[in-house]
Amino acid sequence: MQVSPIGLGCWQFSKGKNLVGRFWPALPQETIAQVVKASVDAGITWFDTAEVYGGGESERALAQALKTVGVPPGTVTVASKWWPLARTAGSITGTIDERLRCLHPYPIDLYQIHQPFSLSPVSAQMKAMAKLAEAGKIRYVGVSNFAAKRMREAHRALALHGLHLVSNQMKYSLLDRRIEQDGVLDTARELGISIIAYSPLEQGILTGRFHEPESSPQNLSRMRRMSGNYRPASLARSRPVIEALKEVAKAHQATVAQIALAWLLQAHGDAIVAIPGASSVRQVQSNAGAMQIELTASEIAALSKVGAR
Ligand SMILES: NC(=O)c1ccc[n+]([C@@H]2O[C@H](COP(=O)([O-])OP(=O)(O)OC[C@H]3O[C@@H](n4cnc5c(N)ncnc54)[C@H](OP(=O)(O)O)[C@@H]3O)[C@@H](O)[C@H]2O)c1
Repeated sequence: MQVSPIGLGCWQFSKGKNLVGRFWPALPQETIAQVVKASVDAGITWFDTAEVYGGGESERALAQALKTVGVPPGTVTVASKWWPLARTAGSITGTIDERLRCLHPYPIDLYQIHQPFSLSPVSAQMKAMAKLAEAGKIRYVGVSNFAAKRMREAHRALALHGLHLVSNQMKYSLLDRRIEQDGVLDTARELGISIIAYSPLEQGILTGRFHEPESSPQNLSRMRRMSGNYRPASLARSRPVIEALKEVAKAHQATVAQIALAWLLQAHGDAIVAIPGASSVRQVQSNAGAMQIELTASEIAALSKVGAR
């Protein structure tokens, strides 16, 4: 599976539907189409959505936008996710046609288990995924939020069906380095599994905009504010990272967000790709620009050091 180092996260396309979708304000379909067009124009070749993002709303919005801007099916890569909570593996095969309907006419290239909490064991989930691949309903299989041990288990279970686990979608950014310490990154490299970094901008914190005096996090959704990252004490803790990013950004005539993304793509060879979300054309154009930036080894080392504090 070949994708651009940066993909577009489509949780923002949930249109405020369901609990998960209410995290972001509802974007008009016209804006969604503009963001999708700007992504493709800027060299982004893939899109990450999920059943749980508005209960299919994000999948429908993405497909409609791709159609509106004239992207032929099969020319971009679409990733979606099955929601496992309180469900058995039987629902993987039971709900796939609904997923395909929401994304129609775009095929599901990568289908991921959204998180590890299911009523069925990993082996049964992988068996169901393999069945979908065999039936031509999906092309590749991935997981998300799987710890190292469970990822290894999924890899082994899928291999029994002759398939390779291609990815584990994990939270990763300069402000969240857990996968470097808990064995996920090492295990992924050992097994040849790509890490798809979600929340790579720490939901906007790593753009530096919330560290500006005129910033107004009170306009964000309650759910988003509840993460605590926008509180003054937390912003004070992340400020040294923003200052270090600003220094490097100056040297590259880039933005703080672009350097945060470039670090993520370059700090570990090609083991990691990232899917920043965007709510405007300006954001997606800027984020895609990170693919053109080449950091020096000393810049990567300096950022890695300050981000690890
Ligand atoms: N597998 C999972 O469990 C999981 C969990 C979370 C996310 N995801 C996936 O990962 C994607 C990205 O994660 P995320 O949305 O949580 O966090 P993110 O990508 O770190 O942050 C996205 C938000 O940051 C702001 N932003 C982005 N680019 C910007 C720029 N250039 N300048 C200023 N602000 C900018 C925007 O906020 P405003 O809209 O407020 O402007 C945008 O909505 C999601 O869309 C989803 O596909 C997966």
